[in-house]
Amino acid sequence: MREGQTPLEETRQGEATVVKGPGSTGRKLYLESYGCQMNFSDSEIVASILADAGYQTTRDADDADLVLLNTCAIRDNAEQRVRRRLVHFKGNKKRNPSLVVGVLGCMAERLREQLLEEEKLVDLVVGPDAYRDLPNLVDQVEGGQKAVNVLLSREETYAEISPVRLDKGGVTAFISIMRGCDNMCSFCVVPFTRGRERSRDPQSIVREAQELFDQGYREVTLLGQNVDSYKWNIDNKGVVKNEDEPVVRFAELLEKVAMVNPDLRIRFSTSHPKDMTDDVLHAMSKHDNICKYIHLPVQSGHSDVLKRMNRGYTREWYLNRIDAIRRIMPDCAISTDVISGFCGETQEEHEATLSLMDEVRYDMAFMFKYSERPKTLAERKFDDDVPEEVKGARLQEVISRQMVHGKERTQAFMGKTLRVLVEGTSKKRDDQFFGRTTHNTVVVFPKGDLKPGDYANVKTFDSTPVTLMGEVTHEPAEA
Ligand code: 5AD
Ligand code: SF4
Repeated sequence: MREGQTPLEETRQGEATVVKGPGSTGRKLYLESYGCQMNFSDSEIVASILADAGYQTTRDADDADLVLLNTCAIRDNAEQRVRRRLVHFKGNKKRNPSLVVGVLGCMAERLREQLLEEEKLVDLVVGPDAYRDLPNLVDQVEGGQKAVNVLLSREETYAEISPVRLDKGGVTAFISIMRGCDNMCSFCVVPFTRGRERSRDPQSIVREAQELFDQGYREVTLLGQNVDSYKWNIDNKGVVKNEDEPVVRFAELLEKVAMVNPDLRIRFSTSHPKDMTDDVLHAMSKHDNICKYIHLPVQSGHSDVLKRMNRGYTREWYLNRIDAIRRIMPDCAISTDVISGFCGETQEEHEATLSLMDEVRYDMAFMFKYSERPKTLAERKFDDDVPEEVKGARLQEVISRQMVHGKERTQAFMGKTLRVLVEGTSKKRDDQFFGRTTHNTVVVFPKGDLKPGDYANVKTFDSTPVTLMGEVTHEPAEA
């Protein structure tokens, strides 16, 4: 597993040829996304809003009239990467003075005027809840002014906007089901950059899933910072808002989406250990098309650290949730996030994380060094006092331990016949496809007569630490 990267923490450039609304004005948008899956999903909303305003997306930044970076502020190194890109685009502006460069997402929210005024790196700064205002703001910049809108909203869910799918694979897609976060984990900047938690209406979510299925997509990932606290028609205190409408919580939503079609796979991210109920696990076990995979970030294996992190659970509570998963779905894959070197972390506390990993034996993990973020509770209350080299050494130990467990978990599937959704051509071999199992393990196999979006039963005969190799078979799948 890559150190310091979340499931989709990579850069991707948007390309879409879809032109909607009033038609193309000939203006071209180049969009780069950083950070979590939610940001990639937001970029598709941005592309849709700007397509309605006449923009076509391009993969070539040199060809663009508008360059937007959808940014992440979760760790300092994520911000530094974006800053380097902005300096690069400032160079492009020298060559093409009419080029508009903007920052979207979490850094926009965190840095606001600093990027515009002090560093003069960009023309446009737009926070995650203000994307509907983008066409106006771009006009404002073209009229010679700088433009900024970083207002956070309690309502905005972009529910009725049809995202322009920037991933050309056409098999898997994200659906945003909620926005923001109310948790205030002490290390985390997200509540400050993405605002209060709000859920999107279930009808529009189910409709989007149906539309994706009709367009040929075969897997959707339901996204939220804490999907287990998804709720519709009921407030935080449990008061029903409209007696004539049903209350929908995450378990019900999952079932509604699962019922769109048995050939549509459902994944979701991220679950929170303090809120993950058995109802969700029962809903998963009831529907074959809900993938047997849960991302359940633990962050630390020691209850004292969890308390300082304000996570709202103890080690024992977390292990009880793992037991519930294993009891209800014995074969479910589990992944996690771990932070090494949080404020005040002792050697004993670090070892508790290793022992928890030994107990759970995660299929996969995303592992990070603690990075202090301005404004967070931890920054205000605690010293970032674990020396950098100790953080690094602990992180290495965590990574090494995970490599052992991940390999063990992958090999447990060796020799088995697995149902795989074909996603696309393998990066390493043109004559092979890759796809994923319900447990999210990547499997590579000869193309045969298959095409992306098909399901295939693949009998595995070889593996690397994280990938399985196999042959298509007519034998029934074991998982
Ligand atoms: N430092 C290091 N890692 C962090 N994460 C969130 N904030 C920080 C931080 N300040 C990690 C957590 C979270 C994941 C998305 O990023 O593990 O689950
Ligand atoms: Fe950050 Fe915690 Fe919310 Fe996740 S649950 S986004 S870690 S505050």
